[in-house]
Amino acid sequence: MSQAAAALDRWIRSTFVAMNTELEEMYFRQDDRANVDGVGDRLKNALAEEGRALIRPLAEEGNTNEGFDSAFDVLGNLGLFLAALRRHELTNPARESASPFAEASALGLHIGASLGVAPRFATAHLNTHNRAIDGVQKSFTSLPDEFVFIDYNTMGILGYKRAADALMRIPPLGISNMATAMLLDNARDALDDVAKTNAILFDRLDRDRFFYSVRPYYKPYRVGRQEYRGANAGDFSAINEVDLLLGLCRANDPLYSQLLIDKMLFMIPQDQESLRACLRRRPLLDEFLDAMTACAGKDWFVRNGRAFIEACLAHGRTAVQHHDQLFETFIVRMSEALDSRHHAQLTASGPPLPVLAATLERLRDLRAAAPRDDIETAHRKLAALKNAVNWQDAQSRDE
Ligand code: HEM
Repeated sequence: MSQAAAALDRWIRSTFVAMNTELEEMYFRQDDRANVDGVGDRLKNALAEEGRALIRPLAEEGNTNEGFDSAFDVLGNLGLFLAALRRHELTNPARESASPFAEASALGLHIGASLGVAPRFATAHLNTHNRAIDGVQKSFTSLPDEFVFIDYNTMGILGYKRAADALMRIPPLGISNMATAMLLDNARDALDDVAKTNAILFDRLDRDRFFYSVRPYYKPYRVGRQEYRGANAGDFSAINEVDLLLGLCRANDPLYSQLLIDKMLFMIPQDQESLRACLRRRPLLDEFLDAMTACAGKDWFVRNGRAFIEACLAHGRTAVQHHDQLFETFIVRMSEALDSRHHAQLTASGPPLPVLAATLERLRDLRAAAPRDDIETAHRKLAALKNAVNWQDAQSRDE
């Protein structure tokens, strides 16, 4: 890491966190907690100036070819800085046609283009690529709720990655392989772990603190002329790999593949590559259905078919939990109580909340293979498979 990069990293991990935390405490003390106008102006300007001074020499250096991790880390620090400026309304894409932070934009665009990622802070910077030093990982503030959010989000993502990794090993083995049952169990267990960390997140995260002091750092901002949507907890590929490999979501569903295209540059290149690899695989659900007529009574079909159904049900449970608990509680209900003048850009991706809610609901129902009249889900196909492996009998025997 160059001296300039190290200096920015030290500042991001110390003064930057202290300044943001102080500003958050000021906002939170107000009757209207969502207001940031006219609050802590001296502190906000000091934050902008200190960050700019540290970024100037880095912008001159550019991406000095010290490897992916190093360049991605600089992009993260730069992105955290720009996201904080956005949070404190020192920049706002709605009232500008280009970012007022020219050096930071130049550096972000240089690194983003050279790595093949969006030139902004993305979820990986605070999750899977967030190095802790002496027990403390990077964050915007030192508020305990921000750490709860970052930590349980990271653990959830790692659970999805374990599930995707297990499923990705199945195609070369085939659905009838004995080892495939173990991999399907591994995927189910990993998804059950996601449900556990999500449940802890739900219990521990304070609604007000999350909504007023953590989420506002995840808004869209401009880099150069272009506006980039906010980071969100979902910008990793493993959940989509699980969707596609199981066959609960389909790449030829235009709304779903649109979502994949939209998130591509918000993921690290390794995730982009894994996602592309999954798009070339045949869904396991289709393989089981193809084998159904010829193999329905065979031991391997019953054993592996049941393990497959369990993995699908575990995936559905986490999707229902994300939507009905996390999204509903921390976004929808909190937004209902919000003064309407703060409603613009409530969501990370920009669409009005009801539009976003319908998209997330659709994803929930696809993953849960729920019966729906208006869209095709895997409901009927999964029911046929359940029937073929005597799922009901197996369930009642287990109870
Ligand atoms: C307090 C906790 C959370 C809240 C309030 C929340 C809320 C949201 C919202 C509002 C979106 C839509 C983003 C937008 O376009 O504006 C979203 C997307 C997403 N979130 Fe979360 N989320 C939370 C935690 C998590 C966790 C822990 C995970 C996974 C480990 C996760 C996975 C996803 C995924 C994958 C998406 C993209 C859409 C999809 O494929 O379902 N979220 N979330």
